[in-house]
Amino acid sequence: MCGIVGYTGKQKAYPILINGLKALEYRGYDSAGIALFESGKLKISKEKGRVKNLDDNSDLKSSNSSIGIAHTRWATHGVPSSDNAHPHLDNSGNFAVVHNGIIENYLELKEFLSKNGYKFKSETDTEVIPNLIHYYYEKEKDFLQAFNRTIKDLKGSYAILVLSPLFDGIYVAKMNSPLVIGEGEDENFIASDIPAVLEYTKNFYFLNDGDLAYITNNSLVFYNNDLKEVNIPKKVIDWDKNAADKNGYEDFMLKEIFEQPRAINETLAGRIILEDKCNFLDINIDSKYLKNVNKIYIVACGTAMHAGRVGKTVLEELTDIVTIVDVASEFRYNYQVIDKNTLCIFISQSGETADTIAALKLAKKNGAKTIAISNVIGSSITREADYTIYTHAGPEIAVASTKAYVSQISTISALAIYFAEILQVKDITYLEKLKKELLDIPEKIDDILKNSENYKKIAKDIHNVKNCFYIGRGNDYTTAMEGSLKLKEIAYIHSEAYPAGELKHGPIALIEDGTSVIGIITNKKILEKTISNLQEVITRGAKVVLVTDCNYENNDMIIINIPKTNYLFAPILAIVPLQLIAYYVAKEKNLDVDKPRNLAKSVTVE
Ligand code: G6P
Repeated sequence: MCGIVGYTGKQKAYPILINGLKALEYRGYDSAGIALFESGKLKISKEKGRVKNLDDNSDLKSSNSSIGIAHTRWATHGVPSSDNAHPHLDNSGNFAVVHNGIIENYLELKEFLSKNGYKFKSETDTEVIPNLIHYYYEKEKDFLQAFNRTIKDLKGSYAILVLSPLFDGIYVAKMNSPLVIGEGEDENFIASDIPAVLEYTKNFYFLNDGDLAYITNNSLVFYNNDLKEVNIPKKVIDWDKNAADKNGYEDFMLKEIFEQPRAINETLAGRIILEDKCNFLDINIDSKYLKNVNKIYIVACGTAMHAGRVGKTVLEELTDIVTIVDVASEFRYNYQVIDKNTLCIFISQSGETADTIAALKLAKKNGAKTIAISNVIGSSITREADYTIYTHAGPEIAVASTKAYVSQISTISALAIYFAEILQVKDITYLEKLKKELLDIPEKIDDILKNSENYKKIAKDIHNVKNCFYIGRGNDYTTAMEGSLKLKEIAYIHSEAYPAGELKHGPIALIEDGTSVIGIITNKKILEKTISNLQEVITRGAKVVLVTDCNYENNDMIIINIPKTNYLFAPILAIVPLQLIAYYVAKEKNLDVDKPRNLAKSVTVE
């Protein structure tokens, strides 16, 4: 995964690069490094551990250099160590490279280079890049030609920055890994994402896969892979800089949980219109096409897949079109029954998840129409899909997704209402009622957030349990899955989600004195059924917490009451207490909530 940043301009590069790396740490944080060009020489400093460790120990801190590249790593090839940290140099010491992605044929390239006398100091795939550049530079005597020949030899994914005393600027190449170029006044920025440099500029360029660029302090030149100069349109990003700061909150995750009402409001604004038709200018799907759609696929990973599961229920109920949800890494290798009448929806907060992008390409190849739902403007998935619908959650920094999740459900719910209006298969008054319910959700989340202190108490009870189960039926089961994922991700507690009725088919054997079970009930029709399942675990010693919008009292369990809404949208409300419980359990255990171990926010490897 990894984060990369580059700067060339009039200011000191070091602090800009370090700040950029800190903002990109969510992408990986096991080692970090920086290369500056100073007094005609490349200076490199690398450390194992977080960016702070690099900053504390780097002898480049006082450098006046105004050009440099930097990297924060999520190890794929080779353990976290300063040798494996980027930037990597070629054998001549002339080319410093930072790289995000994976070079799949690196062993083959390493063998080729070794036969040609090159030596390697690290275990990484990246180290072949600077050496291959050197190999071709010796032949071509022209850097751009050598760079292009190098990237043509690479299989896999990359965003690469190269710094060298042989030229004044920074060379850039991109393939299936995120990269943005920010334009300033007599200074330019390169980064893995927008927030990393948002405090300096709002003007951005997004390279296409296969493109190269040469960036100096006052020029940006873009090339396609035939080395023809190309024009890339400038996009102005109107994100608020504060949106990428903690803004007084202890952690990004807590801030993002509290931003959920605003995220939903902004996502629905202009799309859901009371007493009028929904407005989805982003997609141009006509009634003739929609009436012929025989099946919808929703494909995503992690939390986005859970949003897809909620979306399935809403889509099926409002459009009567069979909707199948699949994990992207499975979808890719399953037998596909897809044709031009299949609509495939891909959900990805980052828009950079490798498996989701690959799944989208496959669906397109098989003739399906594709819609991407993403939170990141210009991200890779938005450039592949036939249509893109943006969630307007604002930058989500914490690795564990919260506000993006509720925005994704809101988007797909609004889309389902829009489809229902086009298809005219549901009663207009019912749809109008649903729109109203959806627009009321943000206020109801505000109510839940008012009681956030209560969750600290529950977290104290849970923080030292070994096992936790989350159970529910229907949409409540999806909420159970997402709640359980949050606890695993940030609190490192083994937890599993089960359909409530399935518990007795095996997992109940694991219930013993003190096991935590969290039940979710937002559909009155199944209240009694799920309550019976909770009673079964209480009898076997479990401690039960119930999240519900039903009027229900029981002294044997802790009950968290949430406001009522239509059961289709209840997952948006029911997840909030579970996010807070996971958050406070992690705090209770003194863990780094925003950067949990082994995880990364944007998973650009398969
Ligand atoms: C990673 C993140 C999750 C996220 C998933 C999908 O696993 O840690 O929070 O849900 O990727 O990411 P996407 O950007 O495609 O929504």
